[in-house]
Amino acid sequence: MRKPTRANHPPNVEVPAGNQPVVAPIYQSVKFEFETVDDTLRSLRGERAGFYYLRSSNPTTRQLELTLAELQGREDCVVCASGVGAIAQTLLSLTQQGDHVLCFIETYGPTRQLIRHTLEKFGVTHTLLSIGDLAGIERVLASRPTRLLAFESPTNPINRIADMEAMIRLARAHGALTLLDNTLAGVHQHGQYDIDIYLHSLTKFVSGHGDVMGGAAIANKSLIRALRPDFTLLGGVLDPHAAFLLQRGLKTYFVRYQAHSKNAQRIAEYLSTHAAVERTHYPGLASDPGHALARSQMSEFGSIVSMDLRAGAEGARRFAEALRLFAMTASLGSTDSLVLPQQMFGGRDLTEEQQRVAGVTAGTVRLSIGLEDIDDLLEDVRQALAAAEAVQ
Ligand SMILES: Cc1ncc(COP(=O)(O)O)c(C=O)c1O
Repeated sequence: MRKPTRANHPPNVEVPAGNQPVVAPIYQSVKFEFETVDDTLRSLRGERAGFYYLRSSNPTTRQLELTLAELQGREDCVVCASGVGAIAQTLLSLTQQGDHVLCFIETYGPTRQLIRHTLEKFGVTHTLLSIGDLAGIERVLASRPTRLLAFESPTNPINRIADMEAMIRLARAHGALTLLDNTLAGVHQHGQYDIDIYLHSLTKFVSGHGDVMGGAAIANKSLIRALRPDFTLLGGVLDPHAAFLLQRGLKTYFVRYQAHSKNAQRIAEYLSTHAAVERTHYPGLASDPGHALARSQMSEFGSIVSMDLRAGAEGARRFAEALRLFAMTASLGSTDSLVLPQQMFGGRDLTEEQQRVAGVTAGTVRLSIGLEDIDDLLEDVRQALAAAEAVQ
């Protein structure tokens, strides 16, 4: 081979039999080839195993899918480039003109916008209720055929807890599919419930380090078989290198999730007794309205702690700006602590009454508690609360 040819056809290095790498290699390849046209066609028809083009699948992304499916307790999974990608592609795949979707005021903002604006353009209608309004949910499901019941638990940012059994019972009784964005609860929780499709932003606890994005839909084989062709066509593919990093994140996922929850519990307990704080929203607190339900549904309560400061919007601003260890930015579930004052949440598409129902006040602040030393975090929160109190 001449040099330009060799540069394009490097020597093949095979790992000998019986000499496995301890960490699976990254298959950073878009294309896979077979020796014959017949083998290629048989593979494309699903009659033989194999890979062809990354947009459909790749060994590294497939390994992540199989791991996630097992952790969530379902048969299969399809991954994609972001959590919002997983939500959008699933919604577009499962609905058609004339369908009706039930979603919630407390639903994550971009999901609400996808349902209210993007699906609406294609003739899919929706009803927006509060997540705790079981009578309303039953009334709507009984009054019109509904394709999907799309919800979260805990909700972002106020940590409301959905009654999983009631949601599933009502959806089943009226032939609707249940779509649970399980990002805050994590890939190890809620698998005991008969949810049809679990959606995840892998950007959060699965990545864990705030350096890679990804999304997943997890369900039984037949639903994933129905979703996968649309995920391939819509094209929001997860890169193999991102899949490798997410797979690596899973190795420490369980210890991280537990440590996040432990630190978050301590911060929530501190906030719940502080004079500057009107209300603390954390399902691990015995005083939280969702506590009993959360305890019956979850083993750990995650990293998000929200609170309403008595000093309102200005107090929230001062608090967020005064924190030294918390980055003021979006996202959650990474090793470092984060803060978002109410001014920086979505919710502008909601009416004043809906915002009241959503429970977000002018002084609401969302924290995502990281893995720093708890005493340093408590000290930082204490001094920032003092700065917020100085506003009054
Ligand atoms: C509940 C929930 N779902 C989905 C997403 C979107 O995920 P991504 O940022 O990976 O698109 C987020 C991001 O904050 C989220 O909090």
